[in-house]
Amino acid sequence: MSADYSPATAADVRRLRDTLDARGKKLVFTNGCFDLLHAGHVRYLEQARALGDALVVALNSDASVRLLKGAGRPLNNQNDRAEVLAALRAVDAVLVFEDQRATGLIDAIHPHVYAKGGDYTVESLNAGERAALNRAGSEVRILPLVPGRSTTSTINRMNAGHGVGRLRIAVLGSGAGSNLRAIISAVQNGRLEAEIAAVISDQPDSNFLKLACEAGFPAHFVDPGSNPRKLGDAAQKEIFEHLERARVDVVVLAGFMRILKEPVISGYSGRIVNVHPSLLPRHKGAGATQLAIDAGDSETGCTVHLVTAEIDAGRTLAQARVPVLPGDTAETLHARIKTEEHKLLPQVLNEWRERGLPVRDAGAS
Ligand code: GAR
Repeated sequence: MSADYSPATAADVRRLRDTLDARGKKLVFTNGCFDLLHAGHVRYLEQARALGDALVVALNSDASVRLLKGAGRPLNNQNDRAEVLAALRAVDAVLVFEDQRATGLIDAIHPHVYAKGGDYTVESLNAGERAALNRAGSEVRILPLVPGRSTTSTINRMNAGHGVGRLRIAVLGSGAGSNLRAIISAVQNGRLEAEIAAVISDQPDSNFLKLACEAGFPAHFVDPGSNPRKLGDAAQKEIFEHLERARVDVVVLAGFMRILKEPVISGYSGRIVNVHPSLLPRHKGAGATQLAIDAGDSETGCTVHLVTAEIDAGRTLAQARVPVLPGDTAETLHARIKTEEHKLLPQVLNEWRERGLPVRDAGAS
């Protein structure tokens, strides 16, 4: 029986890099979690290896995978993940690293080529990593992911067979992502039995999208088109296709600041919910918190409602009330409203899963 695999150190890899360099050869470096290996990983690593003469993989430690992907991950511990990875034909060495980012390793190793998979562009790489790659003079190569092959989709397929009653949700947003964060933590701590099957944004640099990528959910940027306020026809269709591919039960708009039209509105009729920072039907549309202050309201709140073709007009599912305090600005008031949203939205979704479409009287929070 073989002993446990002993991973390389950064110093080992730097020596390998310098040896290759002296011979005019190239070290390719990549990093990731590689939790449940699938054909997409193998093809990605083969392509990465073909960019140079040796491939070194930095594997996220168990602690860093937990931070990146949530408490339920990794499924396999770092020693096992390293051993399996090192057995692949394309992989010359594996090292384990604790940070969520590879910045320190890039500085230590100075790889000739840095390979990254997936939806990234050079611009959307983490700024620290990008700066380290510039310092090291590394060439950055983004390799396409193999569609439909991912650890998350493998886990989803397993759950589809066994995790009866799990709601498959898609979350759409444009901004800070605090409601997405609340949904993720409700899922992780068991308050909401749901699969986050897709996360979609019209804003490539939003925290919302960053959060989804970092948490390891299937995250998609959809180019909204040239009009700064509207969502173009191509984008409407692309969103629909993402929802269909992810086999979504419920679409959750969590700070999505554009209007959904066909084919999503009809295709998901009665299955799209929005959270809005006012007690609808009061203060529809953008700037609802400032409108409540300007109107001198003593109370406002948030509403979770069904989405129809008419803005903020679909059936109210639940509301929570929030007082408007003397001296409130739109920001202070919105922050208090969000605290309520973070409780209300996961609650509504979980009720939906347990008992079907929930409806609570407006105002009964
Ligand atoms: C939330 O307060 C939500 O109610 C609001 O955007 C915020 C998103 O915050 N939505 C609307 O105004 C829709 N008309 P988040 O990105 O931190 O979740």
